[in-house]
Amino acid sequence: MSIIDQSGTFPIGNSRVRRLGYGAMQLAGPGVFGPPRDHDAALAVLREAVASGVNHIDTSDFYGPHVTNQLIREALHPYRDDLVIVTKIGARRGADGSWIPAFSSQELTQTVYDNLRNLGLDVLDVVNLRIAFDLHKPAEGSIEGPLTVLADLQRQGLVRHVGLSNATAKQIAQGRGITEIVCVQNQYNLAHRADDALIDELAQEGTAYVPFFPLGGFTPLQSSTLSDVAARLGATPMQVALAWLLRRAPNILLIPGTSSVGHLRENLAAAGLTLPHEAVEELNHMADIAA
Ligand SMILES: NC(=O)c1ccc[n+]([C@@H]2O[C@H](COP(=O)([O-])OP(=O)(O)OC[C@H]3O[C@@H](n4cnc5c(N)ncnc54)[C@H](OP(=O)(O)O)[C@@H]3O)[C@@H](O)[C@H]2O)c1
Repeated sequence: MSIIDQSGTFPIGNSRVRRLGYGAMQLAGPGVFGPPRDHDAALAVLREAVASGVNHIDTSDFYGPHVTNQLIREALHPYRDDLVIVTKIGARRGADGSWIPAFSSQELTQTVYDNLRNLGLDVLDVVNLRIAFDLHKPAEGSIEGPLTVLADLQRQGLVRHVGLSNATAKQIAQGRGITEIVCVQNQYNLAHRADDALIDELAQEGTAYVPFFPLGGFTPLQSSTLSDVAARLGATPMQVALAWLLRRAPNILLIPGTSSVGHLRENLAAAGLTLPHEAVEELNHMADIAA
């Protein structure tokens, strides 16, 4: 039994994955643009993740662009039967590395084919539609047009399951009228908890919630509360941040990102960390302090 078995499992589509997974975005070059600084180190992170029991990897063809998908293919293809690769569409990259919304039927279709080719797959396990009425936070607006395109690609057999990213509760409800929504991927971590009510609703409905930036993203979480709790438990702050998320709700699936095997091992070991009640209480107040 590997340590990440202690995180438990939760379904995403028709697969049950370990709750500690891996996010591949950090494998691309600086600014998620271009190749990694160390190609072999990037392959090593992916191989170590899967060898450690990770069976849920999050990616996108716009990371690099194409870079993380090509690394995943090089490191892991042919894929283990139980590996679920979740990708996302709805953006493309400018020549300067900028992030450009890409929601036309032609762009969405093209990016599904790009994901298939670069990952070396005939069918994509899960595709999240990354909504961008506001690039940085969920914002209202109809997703009927782009989600209908994605649902058509699903009917054609190119996509098994559909999820939403950067989504509001209203958009999730609208999406469910178009196709089954198997997961929601929004920003959430110890210091950023705008989705508290949404997580509880999705948990009741049995839908996976996958927080992006679980460690704070490009600026990893820093707080004296977090450091104090970690020191008392003989753990690292990042492990405490992940253990808190695992405890927060049973439908939370983690995809911490890292380009380092050392950090990967540290993060996966969070599955074995039990937070005492008092520590959870202290950590629960971190968002108030950060706000
Ligand atoms: N749907 C969306 O819009 C969206 C947006 C962003 C991300 N995502 C997905 O979410 C995944 C996770 O987000 P993320 O990678 O941006 O952020 P994250 O997991 O919150 O944090 C990653 C950052 O933390 C550092 N880190 C990781 N483990 C560490 C450790 N043990 N100790 C110290 N530093 C550590 C990483 O640097 P090192 O490389 O040096 O370890 C990196 O700078 C991504 O990989 C991507 O798949 C989705």
